[in-house]
Amino acid sequence: MPVFPRLLRSCPRRLRSAALSVLATLATVAALVVGVGAPQAAAASSLPCDVYAAAGTPCVAAHSLVRALYSSYNGSLYQVKRASDGATANIGLLSAGGYANAAAQDSFCSGTTCIITEIYDQSPRHNHLTVEGAGGAGAADVGAPADALPVTVGGHQVYGLEISAGMGYRDNSTSGVAVNGQAEGMYMVTSGTHVNGSCCFDYGNAETNNKDTGNGHMDAINFGTECWFSPCYGQGPWVQADLENGLFQSDAGYSKNTSNTGTGPLPFVTALLKNNGQNHFALKYGNAQNGGLTTTYSGGEPTASGYSPMHQEGAIVLGTGGDNSNGSIGSFFEGVMTSGIPTDAADNAVQADIVSAGYGGPTGSTGTLNAGSEISLRATTSCCTTDYIRHQNNAAVISPVASGSSSLDKNDATWIVRRGLADSSCVSFESRNYPGDFLRHFDYRLYRQPMDGTSQFRSDATFCPQTGKSGTGTSFASYNYPTKYLRHYNSNVYLASNGGSNAWDSSTSWSNDVSWAVSSPWAP
Ligand code: AHR
Repeated sequence: MPVFPRLLRSCPRRLRSAALSVLATLATVAALVVGVGAPQAAAASSLPCDVYAAAGTPCVAAHSLVRALYSSYNGSLYQVKRASDGATANIGLLSAGGYANAAAQDSFCSGTTCIITEIYDQSPRHNHLTVEGAGGAGAADVGAPADALPVTVGGHQVYGLEISAGMGYRDNSTSGVAVNGQAEGMYMVTSGTHVNGSCCFDYGNAETNNKDTGNGHMDAINFGTECWFSPCYGQGPWVQADLENGLFQSDAGYSKNTSNTGTGPLPFVTALLKNNGQNHFALKYGNAQNGGLTTTYSGGEPTASGYSPMHQEGAIVLGTGGDNSNGSIGSFFEGVMTSGIPTDAADNAVQADIVSAGYGGPTGSTGTLNAGSEISLRATTSCCTTDYIRHQNNAAVISPVASGSSSLDKNDATWIVRRGLADSSCVSFESRNYPGDFLRHFDYRLYRQPMDGTSQFRSDATFCPQTGKSGTGTSFASYNYPTKYLRHYNSNVYLASNGGSNAWDSSTSWSNDVSWAVSSPWAP
């Protein structure tokens, strides 16, 4: 990490000049006046880029793995490449203006694994994203696994993009994207459950050479728990502006908004940034499943030199920092960039459309081991017949869940059955409230962890169902340790053999402890 940002952090400029203050106020008033005169945001049934076009700020980039962003779009969303023979396939939509045809991916990638090699721009600008090359701060990235983030959107099972460290996408030769102080807006739908404090899970405007070329050369939404300029309030994750050499929550860098404690672990988050390129930027976030947008900052550009005016270069980055700092993780479902600053009314209409798209809705199937079914897994040992496997502090445990339990407890105790990540004749269990996180073993203990695409993870997260060893329910053999089964022991969940060197391999009660009732989900 460069030394310069550290200096900035320890020495923020706290005072804006009176002149800048006046200019910012005038700009705000001007924006409001323009907003009044501009075409009104389209009806909520319009998709995000229809809304922004109607508001006079058309999309110059529209990327999504899960759905169309124009009601007329019927092209490809993304390209996958399979490991077995290196062949590629484009994944499109079920219908114009509709949802992704994930079944086409499942069929193409059947029996092997696929990575996402290109994310197509639905806008007429053709600003497609490919796997990012080496940069000033990171070696060349790799493509994200195509099946790492299964989610339901609008009742359809689709796949989001799950970024682990070392993954990122970019287009360094774009058309129509803001440069050198031009105005732009952008949003992405991401997740508050798959974040870290490393640099820099970004979507937006970046340098064209993958290097840090100085303050103001980026204008991207950042989402994560990295607090670049102290103080930040709460635990995050926060929606921030990566304007290069800093993740900004205000013109001073640090948060001036004590109520901006971040989104917490919301499964689906709308993150929005708009910047007039001269003297004003704004940050907003919302729950992508419900409700409207909250503005966490609206004010002047950073007071440090180089940000006013901005010096955007017009590349588009997804998943890394501008110099390919790629230690960050994150989730991406859809995002757009506009030419010009969208009105708040247009932002609100887009948020309403995102909510109506139905992120994370019920899969439509419950209580079975078929792929896509939501289940809860109940212990059958006599001690514990009201206990279910849940995640708690990232580990798997059993604990009682009942109709009066909290929504959090019910969600933590609900799993979505997925085709086995290592073997499609077996199963994997995705967390209901942490999209892209699966039940996996590590040192024979079970945890909820994000799928990173490695064959180790795939094997550790795959379980093969058999008739319950006690004669009741179902037992789950580990894919890579087939004589070991999912077992509860002292309220923790382990992989256990019937007798062995670990305490949890105890033969006492083993057959009951490894037999589970596949039950209706607590949080369908
Ligand atoms: O601004 C934060 C990060 O600093 C940028 O993304 C990166 O280019 C630099 O390391």
